[in-house]
Amino acid sequence: MLQTVVSVFLLLLVQVGHSAPVSEATFSDAFVRKYFPTIVASTEAKNASMCLDRVFSNYELKKHINVKCDETDGLDTCSGLTFVSHDDKAIVIAFRGTYGKLQLLVESEEIIYRNKTAWYGGGNVGYYFAHAFNLIWNDGMKTDVNTLTHKYPNYEIWVVGHSLGGSMAALASNFLISNGIATSSNLKMISFGEPRTGDKEFADAHDSLVQYSYRVIHKKDIVPHIPLNGMEGFHHHRTEIWYNNDMSTADYKECKEQESPFCSDSHLDFMIGDHHRYYGMYMSYYGRRNCTGDPAN
Ligand SMILES: *[C@@H]1O[C@H](CO)[C@@H](O)[C@H](O)[C@H]1NC(C)=O
Ligand SMILES: *[C@@H]1O[C@H](CO)[C@@H](O)[C@H](O)[C@H]1NC(C)=O
Ligand SMILES: *[C@@H]1O[C@H](CO)[C@@H](O)[C@H](O)[C@H]1NC(C)=O
Repeated sequence: MLQTVVSVFLLLLVQVGHSAPVSEATFSDAFVRKYFPTIVASTEAKNASMCLDRVFSNYELKKHINVKCDETDGLDTCSGLTFVSHDDKAIVIAFRGTYGKLQLLVESEEIIYRNKTAWYGGGNVGYYFAHAFNLIWNDGMKTDVNTLTHKYPNYEIWVVGHSLGGSMAALASNFLISNGIATSSNLKMISFGEPRTGDKEFADAHDSLVQYSYRVIHKKDIVPHIPLNGMEGFHHHRTEIWYNNDMSTADYKECKEQESPFCSDSHLDFMIGDHHRYYGMYMSYYGRRNCTGDPAN
């Protein structure tokens, strides 16, 4: 009897194993914690290598591109960074948005949301995010990524960003897949504190194109709640990973819905403080010090 139960169970396992897509994604706290806060910090650094040296050894840094992401004021810069880690067999693409615009986002300044533009995989996204991504892509990231993907066709592609950079990472990942530069099975997208990036049609397209897509949220981080759900049609893509704590341990909740009431939306009060610190690292300050001193401050 027991044997029959066991073999039926094994048979089921085998069948489930076969029917599921080969590359079905699973979130790993250990993987994200080890690399991604430091990668985000490196986008803030004058010398990105000083940050990357802390978690990668056998890597090649390509360009660290800085662009004026908003022509209306010359001070507003965004950046994009590309490197390849041979130990991890990964090509890494990271984005940094701008703190000037973050202020407007937090104030839910309508002007920044009203203007949308069509995106590659389908749907419409905030023009501001799309414009910033396009500037960085055309300023040299395109060449670097094409070179690396041709040279290392078997490497994974990791795409990451924090805050507005998180929206750029979401756009980049479905741009890369819909343009055949990456495939859904070799791309990993991780964002920290990503605002709503586009409309429902964009979210649906993103979710069908980008299988490995995690929006990590620290407790009461306010930015993922803006623009307000439904405002100008903005809607989150999948999958939310929510830490309702200081992120010092692998204690998180996964919500697979695009807009779940059970993860970060279960709080009604939000804080900008939680936006800056992920996995115990104050990424912008630490990065601006070329990743020296106390990561937490
Ligand atoms: C950046 O830091 C690395 C050490 O990680 C050092 O070798 C290099 O000279 C630095 N670059 C500049 C421009 O200071
Ligand atoms: C709105 O989007 C269009 C392109 O769709 C762009 O040319 C224009 O500069 C944008 N306006 C603002 C205020 O961002
Ligand atoms: C970071 O590194 C760059 C280049 O090596 C250097 O010019 C700058 O002063 C460093 N910044 C800090 C805060 O250490």
